[in-house]
Amino acid sequence: MTTVYLNGQFLPIAEAKVSAMDRGFLFGDGAYEVIPVYSRRPFRLAEHLRRLQGTLDGIRLANPYSETEWTRLIGGIVARNEGEDQSVYLQITRGADTKRNHAFPARVTPTVYIMSEPLVTPPPAQRETGIAAVSAPDVRWLRCDLKTTSLLANCLLRQLAIAAGCVETILFRDGCLTEGAASNIFAVKNGVLLAPPKTHLMLPGITYDVVLELAEKHGLPCAVRDVLEGEARAADELWMTSSTREVLPITSLDGQPIGTGQPGPVFRKMYAWYQEFKQTVMRAGE
Ligand code: PDD
Repeated sequence: MTTVYLNGQFLPIAEAKVSAMDRGFLFGDGAYEVIPVYSRRPFRLAEHLRRLQGTLDGIRLANPYSETEWTRLIGGIVARNEGEDQSVYLQITRGADTKRNHAFPARVTPTVYIMSEPLVTPPPAQRETGIAAVSAPDVRWLRCDLKTTSLLANCLLRQLAIAAGCVETILFRDGCLTEGAASNIFAVKNGVLLAPPKTHLMLPGITYDVVLELAEKHGLPCAVRDVLEGEARAADELWMTSSTREVLPITSLDGQPIGTGQPGPVFRKMYAWYQEFKQTVMRAGE
């Protein structure tokens, strides 16, 4: 039985209950994080907690816990659940009010929820053949840098891919690549890794940072700059990155092949660097 954490208690998931007046339920008024755990060790925890703080600041919600307390609670969830590799989900909502009112309640206790799911990394076939994606205009709000629980636009956009038998929806705004419905997107052209800059139009991905660090470490030329829609479509390679999918090659977009239509050589290198880096980090923690 899955054990979760809710408002100060570890309990079986079936017993975890939240008020119907919770602002997370009524307004999507909350912040969240998804943290991959390898060999029972949270990966890039400090970075995830730093981004969480940025989201909380952005939605004007006080962080209920210190970094030490978060680390202890996340460790508690990891220890109480099965599996060496897990995906920890945490969310903080503004809490339950007595009436439905857009304005923030004067006094309210935030709702804190943490759960763990098995970390299911993509099947090897997706790496070997690559995945198919569709594109859509990025119709989200202008604070995509905040990891909030208001994800309806992302869900609708991801569903476009699912309906088309694809894995991800790549978003373009004003002629530029922003990100995926639930991932960051990179392009490779003539051996150069192209990454959209971290602005308020995309989530500052933790995996995105790892990929750029690995590129620098291994001498892969990079350009962090606006990537035009035409450049993305004409790229030699396209990748999606996220905490749960790691790095995946996108080999078709809107039914057209990307590059040769096969995962490219730069992807293969990055994938190997990523796996090697994960191993190193996990060993260093021992
Ligand atoms: N999503 N952009 C969006 C819109 C995302 O939802 C995510 C991740 C990313 C990648 O960020 P990171 O590398 O830090 O996981 C980019 C998570 C996995 C989710 O919502 O489940």
